[in-house]
Amino acid sequence: MSGRGRPRASITREQVAAELKVGLKVKQIAKKYNCSPDTVERRANPTGRADKRVGHHGSAAKTPPAPVDIGTFKSSDHGISDDAETEAATEAAEEAAHQAKSQEQATTTIIGRQWLLSKVVGNDLRQRYWYNKDQDRYITVIRGVGEPIVTSGAEHRAICEAYSNMAGKSSTLNEIARDFGMPRAWLIQYLHIHGITHDKEPFSAEELMERPTDDLVEDLYNMKRRAVFTAMNEKSWKETKKRAAKWDNFEHSVSRVVDDWANRFVPDYRPQLINLVRAPRPFSAVLLPMDFHYGKGSWFDEAGHSYTRQSCKDLLKFHTESILNSLVVYGRPTRIVVPFGSDWFHVDNQFGTTTRGTPQDLDGTPEMILSEGLEFKVEFCDWLRQVAPIVLLPCPGNHDHHSDIALMKYLQAWYRKDDDVEIVDSLMSRNYYVCDNTLIGATHGNDVNLSDLPSLMANERRQEWAQTDHQIFVTGHIHGEVLEDDGGIMHYTCPSLSAADRWHEGRGYNLNRQAMAAIILDEEEGPTNFVVSARQNRSTVGFNIKNRSRAA
Ligand SMILES: [Fe+2]
Repeated sequence: MSGRGRPRASITREQVAAELKVGLKVKQIAKKYNCSPDTVERRANPTGRADKRVGHHGSAAKTPPAPVDIGTFKSSDHGISDDAETEAATEAAEEAAHQAKSQEQATTTIIGRQWLLSKVVGNDLRQRYWYNKDQDRYITVIRGVGEPIVTSGAEHRAICEAYSNMAGKSSTLNEIARDFGMPRAWLIQYLHIHGITHDKEPFSAEELMERPTDDLVEDLYNMKRRAVFTAMNEKSWKETKKRAAKWDNFEHSVSRVVDDWANRFVPDYRPQLINLVRAPRPFSAVLLPMDFHYGKGSWFDEAGHSYTRQSCKDLLKFHTESILNSLVVYGRPTRIVVPFGSDWFHVDNQFGTTTRGTPQDLDGTPEMILSEGLEFKVEFCDWLRQVAPIVLLPCPGNHDHHSDIALMKYLQAWYRKDDDVEIVDSLMSRNYYVCDNTLIGATHGNDVNLSDLPSLMANERRQEWAQTDHQIFVTGHIHGEVLEDDGGIMHYTCPSLSAADRWHEGRGYNLNRQAMAAIILDEEEGPTNFVVSARQNRSTVGFNIKNRSRAA
């Protein structure tokens, strides 16, 4: 052993002190004297051998060095060399002469932040940081920086809290470097020197030693509460931003386009009210143009019916006039409630299929059907406006779910300035309207179990249910009439004006009469009468169809 390794060191304490004085680093001295840096450190600080592992990965690293008041070093920074007293005295004199100047603490600017630098160093070269309790400042030796950097106590404690994951989500190195303006390379050393890790308490070593346990526990509890609150706010804000983005997208892609179009092209007009007597008993009407299927194409030779775009327009006009003529016998209605959608269009896309992709026989192209269907709906509404104000209740169908949303937006834009048209703004599949003493529910009826409708209404509209004496639900989809008293809720399955096509004819679903209906709602007594206008050339009447599984 004795004959191997580095030759025995020949450097003395005095030589080390002299070299340090001229500014050489420990490694440079070791190289110059051909000895190890440890030897140089031992010569420089002969009493510090027991603390060799302080600040590294040994057991001492788990226990941060005891805080040392920087004032101690102010008075002991001459202890590096016992033999340099003369020179030290000279330096002290010079220091006193430039005392005013030395009050100006050195600084350096790193990534936009000005850092205080301390000229004060301790007599232990392995000591990497000092805490000045009086000024509440930390002085930390960062390798690569000329002088120790100074951080305030508040800043140091904030770094401890930010990097700890005990009270909440810990910040990353990059986040802390950004938030505290500290270069990342400095920060890595800083955390290591102060023993700050993710799983460490969010307190500085000095706080842990000096503050009462109960006080720390209380602080930790409050930090956790704050973390929960912050996380909750972040989540809420994320949701808000998501919704705002959706709305922005909708506004740009649909609303603004429709509004611009409406402002340029929608004429300013109002249908003239027909002279009618005042109804002796105030009433409203629920008009039910369900399952109109505009654009359906039926050829008489193969379907037994003829149904074209023009013929279905004629049908609707004829039966609307017929029903209005029946209604006005009672005087002018207070309002006319109209579920809209509910297979108003026969197809839902440019491929000529239903919403779920079933191909259909058409009269015209899908684009013609959509374009004309929108305009014809306005024409239909204007017929009704000659009699009474109208309320439009959305009712998306299974043939045209998406197009019915476009229909709603179209009607909202068209009637945006008209106070005699109220449109219930909803994208739900079941929608409700309180009409005097009656709660009206409307849905197409393709997805929901019809026997669930009363309980759905009671739960979805608890308040309105309690405020009204009468409740009715109207559905379509099966193109046939059924009236049921379902536990006190009147459920009316509406007929359709549309004719059977090849598909219906093939399966024998062509027995229902083509008809349109309206329900008369007395202001107090609720549903008191029905008006049905049916096509007269049918020889069969499809009343009380029990097989509800028939698809429309
Ligand atoms: Fe239908």
